[in-house]
Amino acid sequence: MSPTHTVVTGGASGIGAAVVEALLARGEQVTIFDLQPPLGETLPAGVGFIKVDASDEDAVRDAVAQAEAEQGTVTGVVICHGNRGLFVPAMEADLQHARKVFDIHVLGALAVSREVVRRLEGRPASIVTVSSATAFGGWEKQADYGVAKAAVRQLTQNLAVEWASLGVRVNAVAPGNTLTPMVQAVIDSGSYDTAAVEKRTPMGRFAQPEEIATAILFLLLDATFVTGQCLAVDGGWTAVGE
Ligand SMILES: NC(=O)c1ccc[n+]([C@@H]2O[C@H](COP(=O)([O-])OP(=O)(O)OC[C@H]3O[C@@H](n4cnc5c(N)ncnc54)[C@H](O)[C@@H]3O)[C@@H](O)[C@H]2O)c1
Repeated sequence: MSPTHTVVTGGASGIGAAVVEALLARGEQVTIFDLQPPLGETLPAGVGFIKVDASDEDAVRDAVAQAEAEQGTVTGVVICHGNRGLFVPAMEADLQHARKVFDIHVLGALAVSREVVRRLEGRPASIVTVSSATAFGGWEKQADYGVAKAAVRQLTQNLAVEWASLGVRVNAVAPGNTLTPMVQAVIDSGSYDTAAVEKRTPMGRFAQPEEIATAILFLLLDATFVTGQCLAVDGGWTAVGE
């Protein structure tokens, strides 16, 4: 167990917000990096919020410096921000949007993680990224988002190998369908067959954000000899062998 001050990107909503709550319950300090403020009138003690685009390298540099000035050295990172793909066939993919998705998910993960690691001065740290079940195997309509999430998984392994000697562990979780505002928006748009998703999932349901947060905290705080791994938290989705 090493983090005491963790930056949670995307911590204002969905899985990230569940991670913030779980970290607080473990007595950890947290700074949220997000484009929007968290819901609720006041931030609980031990939680800071900095409005920042995680894929803007200069803004991230300032944000990490501010987080450390406010709550001390950052020794934990959870990369939980992200935007959606367009859910269109590859032939119709909008390359500009695909570039943006890659920038936000992949280069955002790199920008935040390395800015924190640059400032560690020998302290141990732990990083968890959020990939996706769409990072495994071939999917329809995932030429933008699914490809970016596979790259997040790959980046996680690369960083784990480069930074192990610095005392920095880097792991990923790969959630299956999780009921968050991001997924609710897709359901509301009518482009998700929820019954088909439930039928395809061995456990027969969507995940709750708290169930993903539990796995993230395991990797972040408890799994002290695990690095470079990607833990599927998907109700058995990627275990199906048909
Ligand atoms: N919900 C799922 O089913 C699911 C499944 C697999 C992976 N994921 C991944 O989990 C992560 C969290 O997703 P969620 O479902 O909780 O979504 P969400 O929309 O509820 O939360 C995402 C948060 O990220 C923030 N954000 C977006 N772009 C940002 C940027 N450039 N800089 C800083 N903050 C930014 C948003 O403001 C929002 O608060 C994402 O990376 C998503 O791809 C989600």
